[in-house]
Amino acid sequence: MSRVAYVNGRYLPLAHAGVSILDRAFVFGDGVYEVCLVRDGALIDEARHLARLNGSLKALRIAAPIGEAALRRILREVVARNRVSDGLVYLQISRGAARRDHGFPSPAVTPGLVVTAKSLDPRLGDANAERGVAVITLPDERWAHPHVKSLQLLPNVLAKQAAREAGAFEAWLVDDRGFITEGSSTNAWIVAADGVLATRQADRSILRGVTRMTLIDVLAAKGLRFEERPFTREEAWGAREAFLSSATTIAMPVVALDGRPIGDGRPGPVTTALRREFPAAAVRS
Ligand code: PDD
Repeated sequence: MSRVAYVNGRYLPLAHAGVSILDRAFVFGDGVYEVCLVRDGALIDEARHLARLNGSLKALRIAAPIGEAALRRILREVVARNRVSDGLVYLQISRGAARRDHGFPSPAVTPGLVVTAKSLDPRLGDANAERGVAVITLPDERWAHPHVKSLQLLPNVLAKQAAREAGAFEAWLVDDRGFITEGSSTNAWIVAADGVLATRQADRSILRGVTRMTLIDVLAAKGLRFEERPFTREEAWGAREAFLSSATTIAMPVVALDGRPIGDGRPGPVTTALRREFPAAAVRS
């Protein structure tokens, strides 16, 4: 029997079920989900799963795409259409499909809803339970790999949105020792009070920006003094200039941080020169 999925208002054969490639769950991991056990055709602890779902939606400020009664009906319909007696029903809600941009779509788009169900033989679990299972320990690193250009971008999405709502272009993220790591989608730089440029070392704590690398070439060619080191918010306030970098922003002057001006509150000469000279240093192909 072929399986059936509910996708944004339609029941479709699983093989033909799909969402937009612009769906923010696909692009950013910007969504929430629940998995509910099915036993003898009944949903187990459904109310608690739906309560947690509502909490997750609230936390991410995603509107519920449909009312709870309608959602309950769909969960049952998907279980029935897939003839699941023992198994699970899976549901996910994304912020919806929109042109790629870390901040929330404005105006908001309709959230996406996908529901699937599958059978699982309860005897498999019971066989494991008879033997018991083994476990290993690992450091909790969820998600401690910002150096990987991963699609797991939900914290970045929330940071960019917070920046927008504060009337800012970007949010600079601060580590547990008070040092700035990088922006939600850009690298962070200062021209320190002593005139030496600084950007955080490209260890596991930041994404090694390609623009960052090319800008390092530019400043080396110009004979500018430069260090790869962490800097704090206080140091940035006292810096001559600050800027951010990425493929789409190149070198973008930062003139205020948390509402306080940097330098004289205007784009500085070093940043302006780096921005101007970037195209000649970048490789065109
Ligand atoms: N962002 N840091 C983060 C977290 C980024 O997502 C990016 C790029 C950068 C700068 O990398 P590069 O110079 O290679 O663009 C730093 C892209 C532009 C984005 O997600 O839209």
